[in-house]
Amino acid sequence: MSSQSAVFNSLTLPCGKHLKNRIVKAAMEENMAGSGQLPDHNLLSLYRYWAHGGLGMIITGNVMVNRHAMTGPGGVVLEKTTPLSAFQKWSSVIRSGGALAIMQINHPGRQVFKAVSAQALAPSAVNLKLGRYSKQFAKAKPMTCDDIYAVCQQFVDTAVQAQKAGFDGVQVHAAHGYLLSQFLSPLVNQRDDQWGGTLPNRARLLLNIVSQIRASCGSDFAVLVKMNAADFQRGGMTPQEACEVVGYLNNLGVDVVEVSGGNYEAPVMQGRSSDALSLDNDAYFLRFAHDIAQVAKMPVMTTGGITSLPVAQHVISEGCELVGMASALAITPNLVLKWQQMPSYKGHAPKCKWQDKTLASLVTMAMIRRQLRRLGNDLSTTREPGQWWSLILDLLHRKKMTRRYHRFIGR
Ligand SMILES: Cc1cc2nc3c(=O)[nH]c(=O)nc-3n(C[C@H](O)[C@H](O)[C@H](O)COP(=O)(O)O)c2cc1C
Repeated sequence: MSSQSAVFNSLTLPCGKHLKNRIVKAAMEENMAGSGQLPDHNLLSLYRYWAHGGLGMIITGNVMVNRHAMTGPGGVVLEKTTPLSAFQKWSSVIRSGGALAIMQINHPGRQVFKAVSAQALAPSAVNLKLGRYSKQFAKAKPMTCDDIYAVCQQFVDTAVQAQKAGFDGVQVHAAHGYLLSQFLSPLVNQRDDQWGGTLPNRARLLLNIVSQIRASCGSDFAVLVKMNAADFQRGGMTPQEACEVVGYLNNLGVDVVEVSGGNYEAPVMQGRSSDALSLDNDAYFLRFAHDIAQVAKMPVMTTGGITSLPVAQHVISEGCELVGMASALAITPNLVLKWQQMPSYKGHAPKCKWQDKTLASLVTMAMIRRQLRRLGNDLSTTREPGQWWSLILDLLHRKKMTRRYHRFIGR
């Protein structure tokens, strides 16, 4: 079997759900929720492009488990009492071309913009350190044990709601420096109780959430986890620790582990490493995913830097079962169909390479989110969106979303 055909081969997950091929749209926060922080017609239009783009599985942008803890002001929120009809429409659009519909569920922990909320729950009172940008972020408030149990229940409630709304599964976001990734990181988690210190303690919240979702949603619901291969920061979670966490997840009926890396302080998921651990040029985390695949009993997916079919093939030949793509699918939502017709077709992911890494990361996100909004408005995308203009449009959009979010939560 050539590795090219392997990319287009089907895969059955441990829960029994079936993917028609190995290519997955990774989560991208759209920041496009409609009123009530619900999916609306623009979000559905955007997902219709991906639904008919030949993908095997589509993972939504992160959906918040609690309206008071938002990664961004335009985030979708799904809580225990949220009405489900908008979510039912969303899942049926995603599934309409034969892809599996997976909802990514998340809690930001301390990675919250101050304009959205002044305080943010976190494992410990360790604020984000982003130089002159630090002041833009909320103050980290250490969680009590009751807070921790409440957040665990919120993840489970959201997963149950996603299942009721017709999603094939959920992905628990434990990467990129959000709450579960903060618990895993010894830099941010400085607790000395059963939730901090040793790796089993730091992983306890993630493991509790995953096992309770499995128990509540049954054996035929897909449960995925997105994890950092490492934090890529001195003193952060190491690649060896990431492999150990996957070892713990082996016993909990996880269907896929997606390997990524980094956080707001070290945004290596955009391909720029800042510590001693270097990244691969294409498929940034492949080396780490390869090591994780040696330990993992479940299929492994890697995301980051993949835009061409030969690189996707290489990912499969290195022992990963699934290939994740985000940015390239914002520009070319039907990239998989293009590859099927023309294997040499090269996708494209816009990237800002300014020296100030934090600003460059914001601009890259702004350029990509601008494309998502264009698709949501049924407009064609641009391969090289202007950097400054994208940033300005993103800031204006954020302001509008922030005002609406504050009205929603009655502030
Ligand atoms: C606009 C944008 C929003 C993102 N939002 C999320 C998110 O909600 N959850 C997540 O796990 N990753 C998110 N990511 C990271 C991607 O899933 C992916 O890990 C990263 O972009 C690297 O993959 P790529 O090189 O294919 O873009 C986002 C990336 C972009 C560009």
